[in-house]
Amino acid sequence: MAFVNTLPYISNPIEEFSDFKFVSWEKSIYPILRGESKKSEIEFYTNFIVKNKFKNIIDFGVGGGAELSGVIKDLKQKKYKLESTEANEVDEEFIKQASSLFKNEKQNVIVHKANWLDLPKAKPNFAHLFDFGFLTGNSLTYIGGGTREYTKKAQQIAVSKFAELIEEGGYLFIDSRNYDYIKSLMNLPKEKVFENFTFDYTVYYHGFQKKITVFPAYVSDTVVVLHYYDKSNKVWSKLDLYPIYQKDMIEILSKDFVIEQIYHDFEKKEKKKSLFVQYLARKK
Ligand SMILES: C[S@@+](CC[C@H](N)C(=O)[O-])C[C@H]1O[C@@H](n2cnc3c(N)ncnc32)[C@H](O)[C@@H]1O
Repeated sequence: MAFVNTLPYISNPIEEFSDFKFVSWEKSIYPILRGESKKSEIEFYTNFIVKNKFKNIIDFGVGGGAELSGVIKDLKQKKYKLESTEANEVDEEFIKQASSLFKNEKQNVIVHKANWLDLPKAKPNFAHLFDFGFLTGNSLTYIGGGTREYTKKAQQIAVSKFAELIEEGGYLFIDSRNYDYIKSLMNLPKEKVFENFTFDYTVYYHGFQKKITVFPAYVSDTVVVLHYYDKSNKVWSKLDLYPIYQKDMIEILSKDFVIEQIYHDFEKKEKKKSLFVQYLARKK
């Protein structure tokens, strides 16, 4: 087998894009990668909210706000009344993006600022518990460290913080990229990684591979570096992420929650190759 060393790509773009300018992921990549939310994805949440008569919902990592905003809009069209719609975010750029979207849409959303590890302390303070919380688009994976055990422990702390804000019997919907699949690409040469990290569909990130080329540039047991290339603007960015394996996530969630369903890209199906693994869990 050929010697494979993707280490040079931890901080550098791949050869094809070596003249691309490095930009802020949140500011210049995310809005293009995110694109518009798909109606069926929004209805996945709104049907669940209506069915369970949830009244207080929170997006734990609101990003640019497209998802929460879409949910509020769809519920309004369905004439379903919520008592509160809140969000948490730590990043200033995202707070700006989300707040301006909610303002434009005339939606009343309290945006709390907190690092998950500090919850339930936040600015402004939380005043009540929620019956439905979600954290989507591969977010928990920002938390972790140098070993799989450390990552698991840190992610466990964050999930238990979410649990503190969800009432008994309430639900958490949370996802991560399918790192079990990404790990299977670990020893492949760059060209093969590209070839295998293509999908004939997208979820959440509707600019994926159309407008923004996403490439797992470095894959190890404990760190995955994803590169994002915007070929039309000749810019790139990257995220260093701490992989969440399905076995670990099940253990993490099981401390405070009962897992009711695991989805692959919104489908109730076990899949080896998928973009996202999503977990629906009920608070014990
Ligand atoms: C990949 S983005 C996803 C955003 C959004 N949920 C979506 O699907 O478009 C990850 C989100 O997690 C947030 N985040 C990452 N680490 C965090 C932490 N330690 N505390 C609070 N939020 C964090 C980021 O600021 C960002 O909003």
